[in-house]
Amino acid sequence: MSDAKAAWAELARTAAHDGRSRIESLFAGDPARLDRLTFDAAGLHVDLSKQPWSQAGVEAAIGLARAADVEGARTRLIAGDVVNTSEGRAAQHMALRAPAGARFEVAGEAVSPLVDAGRATMWRFVDEIRSGARAGAGGAPFRAVVHIGIGGSDLGPRLVWEALAPIEPDIDLRFAANVDPSEMSAALAGLNPQDTLVVVVSKTFTTQETLANAEIARAWLRASLGHAGDAHLVAVSAAPAVAQAFGVPADQVFAFWDWVGGRFSVWSAVGLSCAIALGHEIFQHFLAGAAQMDAHFASAPLEENLPVMLALAHVFNRNGLGRTVRAVVPYARRLRLLPDFLQQLEMESNGKRVDAVGRPVAQATAAAVFGGAGTNVQHAFFQLLHQGTDVIPVDIVAVHRARDDSEGRQAKLLANAVAQAEALMVGRTEADVRQQLQAQGAAQSQIDALAPQRAFPGDRPSSFILLERLTPETLGALIALYEHKTFVEGVLWGINSFDQWGVELGKSLAGRVLAELEGGPSGTHDPSTAALIRRLKD
Ligand code: F6P
Repeated sequence: MSDAKAAWAELARTAAHDGRSRIESLFAGDPARLDRLTFDAAGLHVDLSKQPWSQAGVEAAIGLARAADVEGARTRLIAGDVVNTSEGRAAQHMALRAPAGARFEVAGEAVSPLVDAGRATMWRFVDEIRSGARAGAGGAPFRAVVHIGIGGSDLGPRLVWEALAPIEPDIDLRFAANVDPSEMSAALAGLNPQDTLVVVVSKTFTTQETLANAEIARAWLRASLGHAGDAHLVAVSAAPAVAQAFGVPADQVFAFWDWVGGRFSVWSAVGLSCAIALGHEIFQHFLAGAAQMDAHFASAPLEENLPVMLALAHVFNRNGLGRTVRAVVPYARRLRLLPDFLQQLEMESNGKRVDAVGRPVAQATAAAVFGGAGTNVQHAFFQLLHQGTDVIPVDIVAVHRARDDSEGRQAKLLANAVAQAEALMVGRTEADVRQQLQAQGAAQSQIDALAPQRAFPGDRPSSFILLERLTPETLGALIALYEHKTFVEGVLWGINSFDQWGVELGKSLAGRVLAELEGGPSGTHDPSTAALIRRLKD
């Protein structure tokens, strides 16, 4: 049996054993558990002690990381080797947030000088826009930015803006991703073309939704400014020539490289609109926070390595205990888009059934990720988390000090975050409920009927990720944590986390259906699809 197979078997054995104990019981008789399973790195504090693994389970998981050569894969990732094997590319997103003068390479070629030069150009542009030195066609300084992009060209920047925007921003930053006509209408509503900059972000510059929205924005500018309006267009792409052909002035096309994956690209010029709206100093602090997590990930031993241990906790649930779904609940309004971001990062990276060399995977891969901001979702899906038939692990992300805390409201938010993690693990026995109902004088028949309904099984795992404050640095560290966690999971599962062939079929079929909806000849479809097309053509 190979080392990896043996390691997976040991993980399965220990998980089966641990699954028969209650998580809470793992603390008894193991006073060092809490200390062993809490971690601090790059401004984040992470508590994995409410995960369902005993020390033997933890050791089996670490053994799996060793057998899967996570350390070797980490070295290859950092070295800029071709880790995206199906596209023949590196995945060198760490170079994008490294301090000036770093020495990252791709396929043996130094790329840090390119990154440094690109960043210098970006900061100059940002400063020119913010100072008004670079103004609109009519001379008005830019006061609004419309960011057009989708997937990795949208979710990261949108998350950064929601998390870091000042209460009263001096630049009105809007986002448009969906091809739904109402999206661009909403994005442009109330804006004046004279002082609006349009930033079109697309790695390929071929994405149907983005080009459709960019055409609407370009027409909106031209309707007011004529072709001079093209001076309000900015493009961020790995296909700069295509962007220029669209009408974007050459000195407003910001290129990035094919060794940057879309869902790993917020650190590049893809984040330009945020840098404009926030100021480049804040964006640099965001990059620095991620670089701190990178340094930790690159150097910490596996058993002290936050991204590795978070990946192992998730894999212990996913593969050891067969849990197919995970919830992410940020107890912070400004992090409400974190679940959306992680859906793409984790499910587009690791939602695969074939390994990196084309064989069916030997283990289940990515869990489905969903979530929403606490406390809101306590009034939405926490009923299922507490009393549903399935055990769904939860990542709770909380912020200790609020930016604008007053009257201790932050304490109320934190109390809910902590209490939910406790309730998920501890639950409430039927005997306790009976006792409580008896004390309230309930009739026995009522107690018999109600007690089972009001008991909580507990034994439901969670990870608790605590930021001291939500700052550009801790946001950068948080996103980098999940990027590296996702990478480690891909290594454990033996899959390529950096391609996304699964999005191609839907795109190509949509092109065929669109042609038919627009009056083209009917194609060959199943009866259901054919009927829908007929109905929609009426
Ligand atoms: O969802 C498929 C995908 O290619 C993502 O990986 C990417 O982030 C998104 O579409 C947008 O692609 P582009 O940046 O090339 O417009």
